[in-house]
Amino acid sequence: MSAAAIWNLLSFFFLFIFIQTRADLPGTWELLVPDAGIASMHTAVTHLNTVILLDRTNIGPTRKLLPPNRCRHDPKDPILKNDCYAHSVVLDLKTNSIRPLEILTDTWCSSGQFLPDGTLLQTGGDLDGNKKIRKFAPCEGTLCDWEELKDVELQQGRWYATNQILPDGSVIIIGGRTAPNVEFFPPKKHGAVNFPFLSQMEDNQMDNLYPYVHLLPNGHLFVFVNNRAVLYDYAANAIIKDYPVLEGGPRNYPSAGSSVMLPLTGDYSSATVVVCGGARYGAYLQRIHDSPANGSCGRIEATKPDPVWEMEDMPFARIMGDMVILPTGEVLIINGAQAGSQGYEMATDPCFHPVLYRPDQPNGLRFMTLNPGTVPRMYHSTANLLPDGRILIAGSNPHYFYNFKRAFPTELRIEAFSPEYLSADKANIRPAIVELPEKVTYGKAFEAVVTVELPVVGIIEVNMASAPFVTHSYSQGQRLVKLSVTSAIPDVVAGKYRIGFTAPPGGQVAPPGYYMVFAVNQGVPSVARWVQLVS
Ligand SMILES: *[C@@H]1O[C@H](CO)[C@@H](O)[C@H](O)[C@H]1NC(C)=O
Repeated sequence: MSAAAIWNLLSFFFLFIFIQTRADLPGTWELLVPDAGIASMHTAVTHLNTVILLDRTNIGPTRKLLPPNRCRHDPKDPILKNDCYAHSVVLDLKTNSIRPLEILTDTWCSSGQFLPDGTLLQTGGDLDGNKKIRKFAPCEGTLCDWEELKDVELQQGRWYATNQILPDGSVIIIGGRTAPNVEFFPPKKHGAVNFPFLSQMEDNQMDNLYPYVHLLPNGHLFVFVNNRAVLYDYAANAIIKDYPVLEGGPRNYPSAGSSVMLPLTGDYSSATVVVCGGARYGAYLQRIHDSPANGSCGRIEATKPDPVWEMEDMPFARIMGDMVILPTGEVLIINGAQAGSQGYEMATDPCFHPVLYRPDQPNGLRFMTLNPGTVPRMYHSTANLLPDGRILIAGSNPHYFYNFKRAFPTELRIEAFSPEYLSADKANIRPAIVELPEKVTYGKAFEAVVTVELPVVGIIEVNMASAPFVTHSYSQGQRLVKLSVTSAIPDVVAGKYRIGFTAPPGGQVAPPGYYMVFAVNQGVPSVARWVQLVS
């Protein structure tokens, strides 16, 4: 062998080692759509496997035109009185194609939630959109679009509010800027109801916007604002419990951390909430862009009589991280920055590393650092679980307009992050759902049929994940319910198993609507099927 050949072999070997080392951390990234045309500030996955991306109007041109002759004429628009650009699009996950949608009024910093029939309800925004209610009914073809309701408006303007679907399929809309009250959709006759806790928790840099709202399985709402939560009986408009202060500074807009309710399981009598990250108080007020974020998580069993926050540090300090509950029940923390606060041009030092939070591990062993991305995902970026187990990452626009020259430019690329459970070496334990009812009724028993290549012993989980409305690093209406299952029974056909499962007992555990149902074998999820949960 010549010296050159040996040299070539050696360099190949070292390159191989280098790539191996680089790929050491779990998870992989891929570019899904090179140019979505808009920077998604609000993102939601529909039960027809499309994704609604929604920005705002009145910021001038985006990079996606509306269909011909579909311009929006608005004499009050400060930038484009005749606006022929799309500010919302729908992504088809089968083809990764983007279709422009038409919104009429401003949706900036709005809120939303899927209704029981799979229609997306979107509420509020700024200026002319402040009191607007819009719906998007997903479709297979290209005919569906936003519909702005004409006969009904919000009872109070809502900007930076949080929505949560309730056990009866109605939606509660909580708070927003100068809106320390709640209202419902469909609207109630008595109008908006005061909720003074929201203004009590306001400090001189706000910190009370986009509250973290979790519907507990006892039917009450856990509402976290700034650094404290209450248990709220929305039917009686009464606070039933005050939770202790969570140390570590403010956690809501403009100091956002994020929050999830951990998967509901067992007899569904207990629910635990986790709040992670946040800006240091004053970073927003004094515009300190390099003020280090807080890297602590608080965890509390919200259904206990006298619960306390259990504290734990993340491997990275983080603001504007999204917390996504994976089909396995673990939580992915992704996107965001390590310094500054929310708002335009207010954050620095992007946090490229996602981390995995494993709730069943003991304190101190729960976090795992994952493979870093390369695209800064700062203010106005989103993360959504897809039915195939990947995480869709969209948006990032820390600027008032579309600006591709500044630091942390307006970001039009859509990426997907694949957790380690999707790696090829797990293919032989990955279940595939071959039979599952399309509709399940509360409390009733059903059967699923799955296939798995390698032998299965015991339990294959059947887990239901909601499709949340994601904005400002919080997933409104996100929940995962682990259903009670029987052991996987091998079928006569090799590799085929029958699993009995029971639908959730009621709307308090899982409000009605469409869920992604995953079979999970040894921590590896199937591709989900959408199942409608009905009474
Ligand atoms: C979070 O803030 C608290 C209170 O200032 C501080 O004690 C703690 O060390 C911080 N933790 C991290 C990980 O930043």
